[in-house]
Amino acid sequence: MAALPGFPSSFVWGVSTAAYQIEGAVGEDGRGRSIWDTFAHTPGRVRNGDTGDVACDHYHRFAEDVGLIAELGVDAYRFSIAWPRVQPDGSGSFNAKGLDFYDRLVDELGARGIAAMPTLFHWDLPQALEDGGGWLSRDTSYRFAEYAAAVVERLGDRVSRWITLNEPIVHMAEGYAFGTHAPGRELMFDALPVAHHQLLGHGLAVRALRAGGATEIMITNNCTPVIPASESEADLAAAAVYDGFHNRLFLDPVLLGGSPLTDGAPFVLDGDREIIATPLDALGINYYNPTRVAAAPEGSPLPFEMVPIEGVPTTAFGWPVVPDGLRGLLVGLLDRYADALPPIYITESGCSTVDEVTADGRIHDTARIDYLDGHLRALHQAIEEGVDVRGYFVWSLLDNFEWAEGYDQRFGLVRVDFDTQLRTRKDSFSWLRTALSDRR
Ligand code: NOJ
Repeated sequence: MAALPGFPSSFVWGVSTAAYQIEGAVGEDGRGRSIWDTFAHTPGRVRNGDTGDVACDHYHRFAEDVGLIAELGVDAYRFSIAWPRVQPDGSGSFNAKGLDFYDRLVDELGARGIAAMPTLFHWDLPQALEDGGGWLSRDTSYRFAEYAAAVVERLGDRVSRWITLNEPIVHMAEGYAFGTHAPGRELMFDALPVAHHQLLGHGLAVRALRAGGATEIMITNNCTPVIPASESEADLAAAAVYDGFHNRLFLDPVLLGGSPLTDGAPFVLDGDREIIATPLDALGINYYNPTRVAAAPEGSPLPFEMVPIEGVPTTAFGWPVVPDGLRGLLVGLLDRYADALPPIYITESGCSTVDEVTADGRIHDTARIDYLDGHLRALHQAIEEGVDVRGYFVWSLLDNFEWAEGYDQRFGLVRVDFDTQLRTRKDSFSWLRTALSDRR
């Protein structure tokens, strides 16, 4: 395979994970219950009845996992902090042992020369907050800022780059509108306050982080280029509506201030707009694939319909593989937001594959290598076209708990045997390690 194109020497290479997907140890050291504990333990919610109770047992094996990150040769590690581990009820007292865990993790990373890049919220809301309305309640935004302040106070001497929320669109849509993720509510459009309250929490947390000394603060949004199914007026209109919900609802308020979807809504109070638009230092983007959208069929509860993208390979999940979608997305964002677009980090990019351990004990995940290679080339092209991209993080370091899909979808550069917890480097791990070492 040809060498990767040259990225700037300051470009940050990293891998990503999230707490509930890898940590396990859900009942240890005073961790409170999260909405994902409740959801995963509700029969029928997660494939095969899988839960994150043990996951990759990272809570106990973090030093081994940091060793893998160091061996891979990346500069940074994006992980998430489990709110219920550091503040069991999401309000009130903090749990020293929970904070200690992240303290040890950050120290271990530092000792290996790897920059820690924590995400404060990757969907595992304390159950006690959900019992009070979760993100439907404005109070949760203020609780989030308090939690952010406590975490930056503890880790801020060693961590400069922070992410507030991970993919608020997915948390709102799957968690509160469709009920396919925790907390499993099916409110459809009545879930809209969840968008606003997450963003309000984000803005308040940006202020708390900055007051705590953080120097590079971002939000991570899941963004997708939207392809209209045809040039018909109905399909173009449906694509614009989809773009409005998926992309703009979480970018416009942060980058421009306000959104046509929430402006004037009773849950938006005076001053919220300004808080949400508190300037950011960077923008995190998770990109997986474009979305093709058509007008909704008669009787649909939604104003659009997602339709397949034909003629492209698909991942084990069935997601279309379109590397140029990443270039198109980034260039499109620059066109749309111009000077208001901060520098970008790709905080997740990757794919699930059907990985088998072959007789030689190896995992020949060539589809993942092709995926990463293609997306890095597309990313390089976007940089050439003028987009300021500062880093790229592979999802994921390890195979892990893929939410409602349980352990069936494997995204790791490293295979995890969930019976023995044995970690095995896949071919993609070696490929990336070589590609990165060739650059130094
Ligand atoms: C985005 C989410 O942030 C992450 O938790 C998830 O595992 C990946 N997408 C893959 O679905």
